[in-house]
Amino acid sequence: MKYTHHNNELNFKHVGEHVYLKGWVQKSRNLGGLVFIDLRDRFGITQIVVKPDHKDYEKALKIRSEFVIEVKGVVLERESKNLNIPTGEIEIEVTDLIILSAAETPPMTVSNDSDALEETRLKYRYLDLRRPVMQNYLIQRHKITQAIRSVLVDEGFYELETPILGKSTPEGARDYLVPSRLYAGHFYALPQSPQIYKQLFMVAGFEKYFQIAKCFRDEDLRADRQPEFTQVDIEASFIDESDIQSLIEKIMVHTFKKVLDVEVKAPFRKMSYKEAMETYGTDKPDLRYELHISDYTDTFKDIDIPLFNGKTYVKGLVLPNGASLSRKQIDQLSHLVKKNHGDALAFIKLTSEGYSGSLNKFMNDEHYASFNLNEQDILFLVPGDNDNALNALGALRVELADMFNLADPNNYQFVWITEWPLLEYDEEEKRYYAKHHPFTQPNDPKVLAENPKEAYAKAYDIVLNGYEIGGGSIRIHNQEVQKLMFKTLGLTDEDVKHRFGFFVDALKYGTPPHGGLALGLDRIVMLMTHTSNIKDVIAFPKTQSAKDQMMQAPSDVDEIQLKELHLKVGE
Ligand code: AMO
Repeated sequence: MKYTHHNNELNFKHVGEHVYLKGWVQKSRNLGGLVFIDLRDRFGITQIVVKPDHKDYEKALKIRSEFVIEVKGVVLERESKNLNIPTGEIEIEVTDLIILSAAETPPMTVSNDSDALEETRLKYRYLDLRRPVMQNYLIQRHKITQAIRSVLVDEGFYELETPILGKSTPEGARDYLVPSRLYAGHFYALPQSPQIYKQLFMVAGFEKYFQIAKCFRDEDLRADRQPEFTQVDIEASFIDESDIQSLIEKIMVHTFKKVLDVEVKAPFRKMSYKEAMETYGTDKPDLRYELHISDYTDTFKDIDIPLFNGKTYVKGLVLPNGASLSRKQIDQLSHLVKKNHGDALAFIKLTSEGYSGSLNKFMNDEHYASFNLNEQDILFLVPGDNDNALNALGALRVELADMFNLADPNNYQFVWITEWPLLEYDEEEKRYYAKHHPFTQPNDPKVLAENPKEAYAKAYDIVLNGYEIGGGSIRIHNQEVQKLMFKTLGLTDEDVKHRFGFFVDALKYGTPPHGGLALGLDRIVMLMTHTSNIKDVIAFPKTQSAKDQMMQAPSDVDEIQLKELHLKVGE
């Protein structure tokens, strides 16, 4: 036997038993001649004691933090008990002590309260991952992945793999490219998602597919974005939006129950893209708190305020009990508004002393009364064009919820965002882009042909507490509609042939109606473990500047390798 117990298992009931334990030394101390060792494994800590007259006493004196040891001994009742840990009533008196591996002083403390810098933690990630808090993130990740997988398998989905070396996929971020040795000047692209392959599985007749898939996108990183991340990628045939949505709801209900013992209520709320943007200033609204955005344009029509002159819209939101915010705090919020493309931030407060705020000079009692504020309310106002004012207020809303603790981390508010515009128009380039990807089915191909700006997509995102945790759509299975879509996007026949020729060909040979969705697994784990940093739930993440701090990747390579790959590095 390799050991008899984990280090969280022994308690008062085991007193007198002979046990055999293994693990890492959390700490070791010499108290009045007795050596006490806290032995740690992935389950917990057990106290070990070695007496001065013991044969292994000299060995015990040498033991330091992070040594790996094995211990044979007898379970004794402890004199001074620690009721904070499951093994706190007992200790093990050593009969045999073996050092399996010595350890140098680690560059960071292996404990939950380590104050190591992120740079150090990522450089010595294997030490960082020894910390119970980090182990918990990854153990939860394992449980969440298994729970999701089990629903999909039960529902008759096949888990199938797709290549990593392929051709550019249509998600629209920058690709990671891999140069080919055999074909000079040619490159593979790492998949931004398995989108095309999963649709080809449908063409091939597999009907229900899923994959826990690695995806690669060379884009600007954020707290919820990594260049290399994991999707639960799903596709099915002969289905519609409601089938995909109820499948995802089933997955979420099961996973939250199984892993967190939390009851999530399905079906989830649905909200149109337009409503989300106008009421919450974002396509991923956090519905744990209200702070609705309203349109105040008409209210200010007849009040002469220089700040609002010439602006198409004045949008705003009321924060109840927000009148306590100081001038300095409001200045900081004003920076945030400008960073998020808002023109300016104005405010009106109602306190026991009456109305006040940045517009005081221009307002009279009648004006103020029209806002229907309650005492202690603050009204924030942002002038500008529609999208910018909403965007700025959307960011302000999230910041205020954070400042005033309005978002309970144990409250899980799911929402489907539906009725997406099919296309986005780029004024500068004078062309359309697909809002999702070019294989997304329009609600009505006639509208796409006649008035592309008004075309809606059969697309849906799933949002949880302000994070987009998944997105998908019903796909185009009709060649004519696919051609129309490419044409609207300004792709020539040549472009289409070059980029997606094989795929357009595939549609010619009998394509079932199909659709799917991909869940962002890392983000789901983040939300279920209550961390706001995606790196916490990825074993070996990249830094904010896309570096592997531990391996020092990316790194330079030998001249010979470059030559083989037909590459020259520029200045
Ligand atoms: P989409 O691009 O919306 O859809 O991606 C699906 C989900 O993946 C997560 N995600 C990310 N997570 C971490 N870091 C990133 N850089 C990152 N980018 C995306 C998000 C997102 O909702 N092929 C389509 C899916 C489909 O249509 O079926 C796709 O990839 O949670």
